Amino acid sequence: MKKMIKELFGRVDTNILNHQCDPYVQSRINHIIRSVKRLGRDKGKRFAETTYPTVWLIHALVINNQPDTVIETGTCTGYTTNAIADALEYNGHGRVYTFELNEVWMKIAQETARVFDLSPYIKFITGDIHKTFSKTLEKIDNIDFVYHDIDPKEDYLWEQKLMENKIPSGGMVIAHDTYPNDLRYEKGIIDFLDYMEEKYFHINLPYERGLLLAIKK
Ligand SMILES: C[S@@+](CC[C@H](N)C(=O)[O-])C[C@H]1O[C@@H](n2cnc3c(N)ncnc32)[C@H](O)[C@@H]1O
Repeated sequence: MKKMIKELFGRVDTNILNHQCDPYVQSRINHIIRSVKRLGRDKGKRFAETTYPTVWLIHALVINNQPDTVIETGTCTGYTTNAIADALEYNGHGRVYTFELNEVWMKIAQETARVFDLSPYIKFITGDIHKTFSKTLEKIDNIDFVYHDIDPKEDYLWEQKLMENKIPSGGMVIAHDTYPNDLRYEKGIIDFLDYMEEKYFHINLPYERGLLLAIKK
């Protein structure tokens, strides 16, 4: 655990707690979330997706890890996609490839990216991930940062195995919904966690519905 914390927080100068308090970062993330919510409401999507603390933490970790290539599975309306892109813009380099089946939700994510000038940092891949994922990965040699958030969660392991040989030592993998809800894990999560345990330093935070933070050994 100590080693993981050191790996996670000790590598780059950026201090995650300072990042949380940075008014510029707070206001950017607030505006992104508000924009996605407003656009979602206009299109009849009323339920909240990933909450502010998770979005903020992912933003901070992208700055901490300075990735060039980020993979996100499950864009939905793009809270996390746009937060990741905002952090990439802050870093001055990198791109997030994000995958979503629902065209209406993907358009909301794209519209927010346009409003915030984040489109150059995002490659939106619309369609069934089972058809688009392998094809997209063929064009990518190195994956520095991953955010698994597809539904169903059984797909995490499939996605992870497809990406594994492209993730270098030190690469970061985050996964959402990895903690038991009403004492039950989502289907497929235990197999995914078992797999990750061998290859990654990791913490499964009891944060929201669970957030696995892992760094490749
Ligand atoms: C939990 S949500 C993602 C939330 C998003 N990361 C956020 O922060 O708002 C999971 C998403 O996976 C999408 N999804 C489900 N099956 C899919 C598939 N076969 N291919 C691509 N996307 C899929 C759903 O439409 C849904 O938007």
